[in-house]
Amino acid sequence: MYSYDEFDRTYVKDRVATFRDQVARRISGALTEDEFKPLRLQNGIYLQLHAYMLRVAIPYGTLNSAQMRQLAMIAERWDKGYGHFTTRQNIQYNWPKLVDLPDILDALADVEMHAIQTSGNCIRNVTADHFAGAAKDEIEDPRPAAELLRQWSTDHPEFAFLPRKFKIAVTGAEEDRAVTRAHDIGIQIVNNEAGEIGYKVIVGGGLGRTPVVGVTIRDFLPKEHLLAYCEAILRVYNLHGRRDNKYKARIKILVMEEGLDSFRAQVEEEFADLLERHHGPSLIPDPAVVERIEQAFAPPAFETLPDTDDALDARLTNDPAFAEWCQVNLTEHREPGHTIVSISLKPVGEAPGDASTAQMQVVADLAERYSHDEVRVSHEQNLILPHVAKRDLPAIYDALKGAGLATANINLIGDIIACPGLDYCALATARSIPIAKDIAQHFADSAYARTIGEMKIKISGCINSCGHHHVGHIGILGLDKGGKENYQITLGGDHTQDLQLGQRLGPGFDAEDVVPAIERLVETYLGLRQDKDETFLKAVKRVGIQPFKDALYPPKESARAA
Ligand code: HEM
Ligand code: SF4
Repeated sequence: MYSYDEFDRTYVKDRVATFRDQVARRISGALTEDEFKPLRLQNGIYLQLHAYMLRVAIPYGTLNSAQMRQLAMIAERWDKGYGHFTTRQNIQYNWPKLVDLPDILDALADVEMHAIQTSGNCIRNVTADHFAGAAKDEIEDPRPAAELLRQWSTDHPEFAFLPRKFKIAVTGAEEDRAVTRAHDIGIQIVNNEAGEIGYKVIVGGGLGRTPVVGVTIRDFLPKEHLLAYCEAILRVYNLHGRRDNKYKARIKILVMEEGLDSFRAQVEEEFADLLERHHGPSLIPDPAVVERIEQAFAPPAFETLPDTDDALDARLTNDPAFAEWCQVNLTEHREPGHTIVSISLKPVGEAPGDASTAQMQVVADLAERYSHDEVRVSHEQNLILPHVAKRDLPAIYDALKGAGLATANINLIGDIIACPGLDYCALATARSIPIAKDIAQHFADSAYARTIGEMKIKISGCINSCGHHHVGHIGILGLDKGGKENYQITLGGDHTQDLQLGQRLGPGFDAEDVVPAIERLVETYLGLRQDKDETFLKAVKRVGIQPFKDALYPPKESARAA
């Protein structure tokens, strides 16, 4: 784990002290809400439908047990006993009181966490593959690069007021679990032909009202130039990004309007100029700094273990529920005898991504005892124990089961991403959470869910797409149609290295018709798939959307509508 140095500690504590004074002035009435707004947004505090909301960054999705316990404590003491893990590896508290916020931020600072740059038109929390350092398909752990980017981007004087928010994600594995092609900048760790490790740089991706798949601006960037190249991209964007229209202000619009070649030429010119003349040399990180960061993410001291365990095998044979959980929620680890445990935050009946105080405490205890003190937060709103010895699986499962956290649905139809929607969000046009709950309830039979196989349903409560619906195998977008919630369905989205945007199937559905529509899509898939290995997404890619369209809008109805 990376740990703060004296500078970081003083900086974060000073920010809290400054904000404490601003809150006192708001409470006394010396500041109006309008005057207070830019000050609170500098500290990750939004005003939602019912209350203030605090968004806390979890850099590259990594937490230690002390941090997780502190998040639990905050939920218990100052919120309603739960927190909400989001698609950008943040945690959000939906009910903090204004008067408590400085104390909450102080408590976060005590465990080296903060909410700086979790809102506003700045570089947001840098995200990374949630299996970093554990995945078998990894070229290199992406977190040192993400940490370097975090240090560079925190309080960067030139990039505090960009045309619009700016999101960076890093992956170091063959499978892109960090959705890098849907970010303003996506960094992929790659090998070149000479066998050197460097970065492929993707730019101009994003979801929102204008979803765009990011494009490759550099096939191979030497490692030492990561910050200088990102600085060059940000400079071009800061200068030319559209400040006249909020909806056209993201870098994706600039890249589209300029064309990739022209945008790239400007970036390369800026990059060369930076290295040659300006403060380029200071953008090549001191090897001692890089070394310190890399050391912080050095692999833990794994035990040498056989790949099988007799007690585990016996439990697998005797306990079908345990065996099912192992089959669904584990991912192969790079070390023999170890595994990666995904903890589903999607139990049937709960809001996706929510965890209670008690649940966070259980996960913290398990991380401390069984996972080298590490927990991860995934963009799919689940938690992960990245470094588990297989022999410990029965004990972990029992503890999770006791806490209501042993749902075996990772990557299955119940593992739904949903944004807060109209239950909390001031921008929402429809509810997301109840739709997710209804779908999970309908497909609660785990045998049926496993028959359906891999399925990514993603739901957003408005066009801003916080729930990633564009890249869901089935995407659901909640809109307002004449005062009534209406849900549009897209098909064939893919959030991986082959990132693809879903295609809209047709007119939207009322809330109560969404589940039957999903059921028809599932039945259609089961009817046409070639075999069990052809997942829903593969089948859609093979046959196209027409059979699914016909299932949702039978020709008779279409004729009547026409
Ligand atoms: C306070 C509630 C929230 C507000 C006001 C809000 C606002 C927005 C807005 C306005 C956009 C569109 C940005 C654009 O197109 O330029 C957006 C995008 C996005 N938000 Fe949120 N959001 C909220 C909560 C969340 C939550 C809870 C998550 C995670 C579950 C999230 C993750 C994202 C993601 C992934 C995107 C799309 C990626 C992109 O920026 O292009 N947001 N949000
Ligand atoms: S997608 Fe819309 S409703 Fe959902 S959290 Fe984002 S802004 Fe709110």
